[in-house]
Amino acid sequence: MVAIPPTRRPSAPALDHRELYVLLGRIEEALEVLLRTEPLEPTAAQSALELLEVAGRELPVHFADEEAPDGFFASALARAPHLHHALETLQKEHLHLAELLGELLQEVRWAGTSSSAWTHVEASYLLLAETLRRHERAEDGIVAEAFSTDEGGLG
Ligand SMILES: [Fe+2]
Ligand SMILES: [Fe+2]
Repeated sequence: MVAIPPTRRPSAPALDHRELYVLLGRIEEALEVLLRTEPLEPTAAQSALELLEVAGRELPVHFADEEAPDGFFASALARAPHLHHALETLQKEHLHLAELLGELLQEVRWAGTSSSAWTHVEASYLLLAETLRRHERAEDGIVAEAFSTDEGGLG
């Protein structure tokens, strides 16, 4: 299993796509475990909250890493200029994803041990996770197209 760091060191590299998919799966499992109990188990709520906070820290770092001057978008554009529309769309999606993430984290901070609040959190999370998976798969497709002839890509 891929280790997800509980805290972010300034020098830590951004999570790659495989690590992000693992994190998304772990959050889904944590929410499922949490919402299976009534009343909600405080330790299960804490675990879900901590994993969502990891996502709150890691996703912006992942996006910034891709948008960096030497990051994925710039190198994909250099390799495959004909993909510029697709790359621009993906870069814009980071803003939308960051908004969804911000709203989700607000809900999480107020959820406590309220099952109705966590049911809301789960719905918001599933929307974010679906949108994010679609986004990352599109990037994986770009990697396959732009970097298929040699080494490179998102790791
Ligand atoms: Fe991205
Ligand atoms: Fe990505």
